[in-house]
Amino acid sequence: MSVPLYLHPMKDRNTIRFSDSDRGIRAATFFLRKGGLVAFPTETVYGLGADARNERAVADIYRAKGRPAHNPVIVHVTDSAAGTMLIDLPEAGMKAAKAFWPGPLTLVGPVRGDSGIAPICRAGAETLAVRVPEHRLAQTLLKAFAGPLAAPSANRSGQVSPTHADHVMEELNGRIDGVLDGGPCAVGLESTILGFDADGTARLLRPGGVSLEDLERTLGVVRSGIIIDDTAPSAPGQLSSHYAPGARVRLNADAPGLGEAWLGFGPDPDRISAISINLSPSGNLEEAGTHLFAALRQLDEWLNGSGVIAVAPIPQSGLGQAINDRLRRAAAPRT
Ligand code: TXA
Ligand code: MG
Repeated sequence: MSVPLYLHPMKDRNTIRFSDSDRGIRAATFFLRKGGLVAFPTETVYGLGADARNERAVADIYRAKGRPAHNPVIVHVTDSAAGTMLIDLPEAGMKAAKAFWPGPLTLVGPVRGDSGIAPICRAGAETLAVRVPEHRLAQTLLKAFAGPLAAPSANRSGQVSPTHADHVMEELNGRIDGVLDGGPCAVGLESTILGFDADGTARLLRPGGVSLEDLERTLGVVRSGIIIDDTAPSAPGQLSSHYAPGARVRLNADAPGLGEAWLGFGPDPDRISAISINLSPSGNLEEAGTHLFAALRQLDEWLNGSGVIAVAPIPQSGLGQAINDRLRRAAAPRT
């Protein structure tokens, strides 16, 4: 008797590309119900989904990604009502949920006793990260599945997040059951992650698709808490070398040096490299965010994963904070 594919360990899975159609959704849902792994688009990046109530399915996410066991995953649900049933949120958290869900925001709070979420999603923490994505296909899939989906970004651990179904295939083909192809992701940067201090004040844990300025407009004070730490398991997501292309990354460059590739923003300098991509010639940060990860992948491919990518300075305002955060991690010393 043949053993279903989803029971196999992390190799030799036949990775199917599910289309954006009723049939595609039905097939993707089928695999998820069986404890399989299906990548799906959100407005930020593609997530690698599994039933968040199924310990073994979520363990398979860690295996497929090569993700360290101490790094918790985000649980995705269809709406704020479902989200606030999983975690306890202070007033500021409820406000943030109301203002930014569905959308590119993840909220972290103490998990409720009756959440039904497999503890492995928290990787030992008392808190759980929850997100309500806005993407039409993500919503359709969550509704068809009718349950919470654990989903970290659908890349191998330490690599650049995928913003196209092709990127997912490049990294995880043969290791997951499928990818639901929803085309390119509109935001292109991962969600902003917000936690809360004991006094109920919001704390920015990762800059992302919702800008700090927008959060502050809604919440008043938002403390910043981005800790760059390579080793401490207690600081999940804060590993400094991350989003790393093979090529080295040189930040805040005026122009490319001889032989360097160029990642531009705003008007290009006079001396331009043959290998170059401009994230937004008009200097639009939203546009730059949308294209950042695909551009890093493309330049890395053109450079065969070696050499240097010189990057133009990018303003720190709005989405610039998240873009600069990802670029700094891409440029961080490799371990
Ligand atoms: O946009 C996104 O957030 C995408 C899409 C798929 O939703 N997901 C994503 O997941 O970027 P991932 O696993 O690549 O990044 C989630 C980050 C990790 O750095 C993890 O350490 C942090 O969230 N995280 C998860 N649970 C946490 C918790 N309980 N407390 C603090 N950080 C947490
Ligand atoms: Mg990730």
